[in-house]
Amino acid sequence: MKNWKTVVMITLVLAAFITTSALAVDGGNSRKGKHLFKKTCKTCHGAGGEGGEISPKVKTMAQWDRHFKKAAKKHPGDVFKKTPKQDLKDINQFLYDSAADSLSPETCG
Ligand code: HEC
Repeated sequence: MKNWKTVVMITLVLAAFITTSALAVDGGNSRKGKHLFKKTCKTCHGAGGEGGEISPKVKTMAQWDRHFKKAAKKHPGDVFKKTPKQDLKDINQFLYDSAADSLSPETCG
């Protein structure tokens, strides 16, 4: 594509816009989410885990929201199907609140 620079620019502007205007799911409790993330996700996503180490900081707020929208279909295994919806909301909220572009990015889960 000839105009790839323009495309990249537009994409970046859009991404910045979406990131600042994106809102995490309603009704999530970040503090509970942190605990649930450790309990539910860190079993496979801790250091040396089979899913690779994951911390809130590996994604932006918008990326986390997108991940949770698709995870039930895309994530390996059935953890996203078996975990109660409210728990997933809480985890989503925690990851969102501590994402790479959040006010307080966190490395550990
Ligand atoms: C039973 C083990 C297991 C559990 C529990 C688990 N995962 Fe995963 N996860 C995986 C595996 C395996 C992959 C695929 C890794 C790969 O493709 O390299 C993965 C991939 C991912 C990815 C994509 C990695 C990337 O770089 O984009 C994300 C994000 C993720 N998991 C988040 C979560 C969250 C959040 C939870 C808790 C609700 C969770 N996982 C629970 C095994 C697990």
